Amino acid sequence: MYVLGIESSCDETAAAIVTERKEILSNVIYSQIDEHEAFGGVVPELAARAHLEKIDLVVAKALGNAHLDISEITAVAGACGPGLIGGLIVGATFAKTVAMAMGIPFIAVNHIEAHALSVRLTEDVRFPYLLLLASGGHCQLCVVHGVDRFDVLGKTIDDSVGEAFDKVAKLLGLGYPGGPALEKEAANGNDRAFALPSPLCRGKSCDFSFSGLKTAVLAASGKCKSAQDRADLCASFQKTAAGILGHKTKQAINLCRSKNIPLTTLIAAGGVAANGIVRKELRNVCSSSELHFSAPPAQFCTDNGAMIAWLGVEKLRDDQTYSLNFAPRPRWPLGE
Ligand code: KG4
Ligand code: ZN
Repeated sequence: MYVLGIESSCDETAAAIVTERKEILSNVIYSQIDEHEAFGGVVPELAARAHLEKIDLVVAKALGNAHLDISEITAVAGACGPGLIGGLIVGATFAKTVAMAMGIPFIAVNHIEAHALSVRLTEDVRFPYLLLLASGGHCQLCVVHGVDRFDVLGKTIDDSVGEAFDKVAKLLGLGYPGGPALEKEAANGNDRAFALPSPLCRGKSCDFSFSGLKTAVLAASGKCKSAQDRADLCASFQKTAAGILGHKTKQAINLCRSKNIPLTTLIAAGGVAANGIVRKELRNVCSSSELHFSAPPAQFCTDNGAMIAWLGVEKLRDDQTYSLNFAPRPRWPLGE
C-alpha cells in the first residue's frame, strides 16, 4: 500500500509517501519562511499563493524520491483542516483531483489527529496512550483510544504554547519562526534569571493558559539591557513554559489513574514537542509517574506530509474513505 499525503494547512507545503509497513519512501517539505519572514509571522494570503505555486512540484518530487509513478499510488490523504482556509483549499483540491484522475480513494485528514497518531509511524505504540499535543495552533491533553477516538482532558483557554514561543521570540527580536530561534538563544541563558508566572497551575484542571506568561515576558523585557539578559529571559521563559506543560501532564496522568484508564505511555507531538527542554521535562514527569515517554523525531513533530499519509494508512485499514465533496474545515476540533 502506497499512500500519498499532502499537507498545506499553514506555512509548509509538504508531500510524502508512506506504506502500511511504516516505510517513509519520501518526505518533501517546502517551507515558506522566506515568504513570511519580513512580516514576523504567517500572512494567510501569501501562504495560499505559495502553496498554489509549489504544490505540484512538491508532489512530483515526493513521487520521484520514492521512485514511484503516480499510477502506483493506492490512495491520497489530504489535510482538510483545521488551518488557514486558502492553503487547505489548495491542498485538499489537489489531493481530490489526483484521487479522481487516478480512480483511487481520497481520505480527508484532520491535521491535529495526524499529529496525534504520528508517533505510530515512527514507533510501535499501542492504544490507549496519553497525548500532549503542543503546536502552533493547539495545546491539549487527551487520551488517544484509537483512530477517531479521543478523550480530551484539557486544552488552552487562550494562546497555544507554540503561539507563546512565537510571540515571545518576535517581541525579543529573534525573528520567525520563533520556537527554534528561541530555543537556540535560550541555550546561552540562565533559566533562573527571571521569575515568571505559571498561570492556571494551582488547581487540578488540565486546561492551559499562556497569555499571562507572555505578558510577564513583555514586562520583563524592559529590564533587558544586554544580549546576555535577552538569552536569560529566553531561558527563563522556556523553562517556565516547559514546567507548565509538565505540571499539566502530571495532572492528566493523575486524572487518568483516578478513572482507571490503563495508561503505559505518554506521547508528545506537535512543533513544540521538538524542543529539547520540553522533552526533558516530560521525561522527568514520566519517570516519576512510571510511564514510558516517547515523541516522534523532531522532523516529524513539526508539520510534514508523512504524518498525513500515515493517518491515511490508519484510516484505510479502518475502511474509512471520504467523498470528493468533503469541504475543507478551517475549524475542526478533534473527535468531531
Ligand atoms: O506542529 P507545527 O509545525 O504547526 C502547527 O500545527 O501549528 O508547530 C509549529 C509551532 C510553532 O509555534 C513553532 O514556533 C513551534 O511549533 N516550534 C517550537 C520548536 N520548533 C517548532 N517551539 C519550541 N521549540 C522548538 N524547537
Ligand atoms: Zn501542525
